[in-house]
This record gives sequence, structure tokens and C-alpha cells, in this order.
Amino acid sequence: MDFKLTEEQLAVQEAARDFAQTELLPGVIERDELQKFPAEQIKKMGELGFMGMMVDPKYGGGGMDTISYVLAMEEISKVDASASVVMSVNNSLVCWGLEKYGNEEQKQKYLPQLTSGEIIGAFCLSEPEAGSDATMQRTTAEDMGDHYLLNGTKNWITNGSTASVYLVIAQTNPELRHKGINALIVEKGMPGFEIGAKENKLGIRGSDTHSLMFTDVKVPKENRIGEDGFGFRFAMSTLNGGRIGIASQALGIASGAYELALKYSKERKAFGVPISQHQAIQFKLADMATNIDAARLLCLQAAADKDNNRDYSKTGAMAKVFASKVAMDTTVEAVQIHGGYGFVKEYHVERLMRDAKITQIYEGTSEIQKIVISREILK
Ligand code: CAA
Ligand code: FAD
Repeated sequence: MDFKLTEEQLAVQEAARDFAQTELLPGVIERDELQKFPAEQIKKMGELGFMGMMVDPKYGGGGMDTISYVLAMEEISKVDASASVVMSVNNSLVCWGLEKYGNEEQKQKYLPQLTSGEIIGAFCLSEPEAGSDATMQRTTAEDMGDHYLLNGTKNWITNGSTASVYLVIAQTNPELRHKGINALIVEKGMPGFEIGAKENKLGIRGSDTHSLMFTDVKVPKENRIGEDGFGFRFAMSTLNGGRIGIASQALGIASGAYELALKYSKERKAFGVPISQHQAIQFKLADMATNIDAARLLCLQAAADKDNNRDYSKTGAMAKVFASKVAMDTTVEAVQIHGGYGFVKEYHVERLMRDAKITQIYEGTSEIQKIVISREILK
């Protein structure tokens, strides 16, 4: 087994690291405080090719592999997880879902703008009463012949007000249960489509989370992705890859906090020596480094499975459940290593700790990942 990265992969990693340090780090504390969406930064990320990394170049994408995507997600997330969730949703849910399952017309219409960062996308599955239990869709897409009539509410939608294109999951034939669900492309501005108030969140505060309301929105039939009734499998299949993105986000949050803690432990003195010379601190750093390496290996394993056309639902779920726990554990200890300084905004680790929590919740909670993993193991 060769763990060596290619020159291209190393170049992507370096470009993402540079971008994060020069463009995302300045202002990250203020954006978090003010819940300010990183609009300019996302635009630049589009220009640099980070918004459609894996998409075929014929649709304006970077044609890169999933390993490169994981490396870039880690670097961006070390500094700004609010920017990286926008990147993750756009790349692995919206662009991937459209490229894999959309028809040629849909790909040509939406992908070039999505990959260039000119517009961003949103993925709309969750509802007030259908989160983990995602087959229980209350949003309806009534078949009216040449169009669907969309009614209902989606909750917690990332890029809720900043997106232009929304992939919306809705029930058309309730008697067929999940096999009656469709995935529709909804554009901002369609009559009857309203955006609710912005959520005031614990973490990833720069990202833009809203509920969406649909009242008799006419969605043309040509906006359906895949065959009639394919919508739930579309969502699940797309989330398998999305979970690799969020696992890499968690990995980045953890490694960002670890790097800050390592540096601080060598600078801060207590009892006449740098705190890194106290064994209690050394053991914390050793645990962090070990867990982060294990999380990175799982992320890369899942990415390699995807790139090599092997099943990646189990390894993606394993990467997400493990990396998100590592993100929580590492950020809590990074705050501890910083002592009182860790509790204030300037030192970044308190933000990383708040940002870490969401990685155990979205794109399937940790409990749901364990359902996915155990079903695969037991089948
Ligand atoms: N990959 C592919 N297909 C899958 C799948 C997977 N991982 N999991 C389920 N399916 C398919 C099944 O094969 C089945 O299809 P068929 O009947 O055609 O075989 C269908 O989906 C229904 O599956 P189940 O019978 O297993 O359904 P269930 O109700 O028992 O459980 C679940 C399904 C795994 C719990 C699912 O509901 C789930 O993943 N829930 C979590 C929802 C989630 O992840 N939401 C994330 C929203 S997006 C987001 O959060 C973005 C963001 O924050 C940035
Ligand atoms: P519930 O499903 O009500 O779960 C509550 C608790 O019960 C959890 O701990 C859960 O693990 C547990 N639980 C539920 N069922 C089981 C079970 N069978 N076994 C064991 N435990 C169980 N959704 C989108 O569609 N698009 C987005 O862009 C998006 N972005 C988000 C951004 C943010 C900031 C947040 C907070 C959420 C976002 N979500 C998005 C929604 C997210 O995916 C859901 O919150 C998540 O799937 C959990 O659903 P829920 O909140 O309804 O919790």
C-alpha cells in the first residue's frame, strides 16, 4: 500500500493551505462574531477551482480526484469551517449529484456556473419533522402533467439565502413511500418560493442556514433529476460522498486546533518551563496527533474507495463518525491546553470547538452513521 501523494495532489493541498492562510484567516473571527457569510472568499474559491473540484472540465470543473478534494477540505477547514461547509455542499452534494444523475441539458445549464463559483447550490432534504428519518418527507411535489406543484417546508438549509439553485427532495406518491420521492431543481425567484429567517447558530456562524417555504411553486418536469421516484435514492447516494466531505471538514477542524495547541504549548511557560514539557500536556498532544492521523487515513480510504469505484457508503460513514468525534475531542483539549486564553476569541480554538459540534449532526448524525455502518457489516 502506497501512502504517497502525487505531485498534483500535493499542489492542490498547498494551494488550499495558502488560500486559507492569506484569504480566510484575516476576518474569520469577525465573520463568526457577526454571522457574516464569506461571499468574497467563496467567489475567489470558485475562481481558484475549489467549488467544482471533481467535475469534468467540459462543465468547467477541475477534473480532480476525491483524494485532492479531501486534502483541500482539510486545509480550508483548519481555518474556516463556515467557508468549507459551503465548499462541501457545492462540491459533493450539488455538483456531484447533478453531474452523476442529471441529464445533459441540466448539466450544461447549471454546472459551469456552479463550478466557477458564480452561483452556489443548496441541498434540501431535511424538514421540521424529517431529519434522521428522512423517508418521512412532508414536502409534496404533485404531478400536474408538464410540471410539479411543490408545497412544504425544508429546514436547516445550508446556503439557504445565498444559493441560486436548490436540489429539493419531495414526495410525489406517498403510497409508494420512499420510492415515490422525487428530486427537483428549484431556482431562486420561482413564484411561491420563500426563504425564512437566518438561524443564529452555535458554530459555523459564517455559513448561512435557513428554512425554505414552498407554496404552489410550479417546477417544470424537465427539472426532475433522474426517473420518477428516484429522489430518495438520489439523496442517499449523493450523501454517501457528502459524508466524505464533512469527515474531511471535521479532520481539518481537528488538525487546525492541534496545530495551534502544539505551537502554544511550546511558547507558554508555567513552573519555569514551556507547558509542552509537562507530561500531562505531552500526552494530550500525543492523543491528538494519533487520532488525527487515524481520522485522515479513514478519510483517504473512503476517498480512494470512491475514486476506484468501490463501495464507499461504509468507509465514508466510518470516516465521518470517527473524524467528527476526533474534532470534538481535539478541540476541547486544544482549549484546555490554551488555559484561559483558549476561552477567548483571539486564539481561535474556542471557535473551532464550537464549529466541531455540527460535524456530529449534519449529513447524518453519528447515530445514523452507525446505522449505515452496522447495516453494511451485517448484510
Ligand atoms: N446509499 C445508497 N442507498 C441507500 C443508502 C445509502 N447509504 N441508505 C439507504 N439507501 C436506500 C436503500 O437501499 C433503500 O432503497 P431501495 O428500497 O430501493 O433498496 C432506500 O434508500 C430506503 O432505505 P432504508 O429502507 O434503509 O430507509 P430507512 O428509513 O430505514 O433509513 C437512513 C435510511 C439511512 C436512516 C436515512 O434516512 C438517512 O441517511 N438519514 C439521515 C439523513 C441525512 O443524512 N440528512 C442529511 C441532510 S443534508 C445535510 O445535512 C447537508 C449539510 O448539513 C451540509
Ligand atoms: P433528529 O432526527 O430529530 O434526531 C434527534 C436525535 O435522535 C439525534 O441525536 C439522532 O441521532 C437521534 N436519532 C434519531 N433517529 C435515531 C435512530 N434510529 N437511532 C438512534 N438515534 C436516533 N439538512 C439538509 O437537508 N440540507 C442542509 O444543507 C442542511 N444543513 C444543515 C446545517 C446546520 C447548521 C444544521 C444544524 C443542520 C443542517 N441540516 C441540513 C439538517 C441536518 O442534516 C439534520 O439536523 C440531521 O440530519 C438530524 O436531523 P434532526 O435535526 O431532525 O434530528
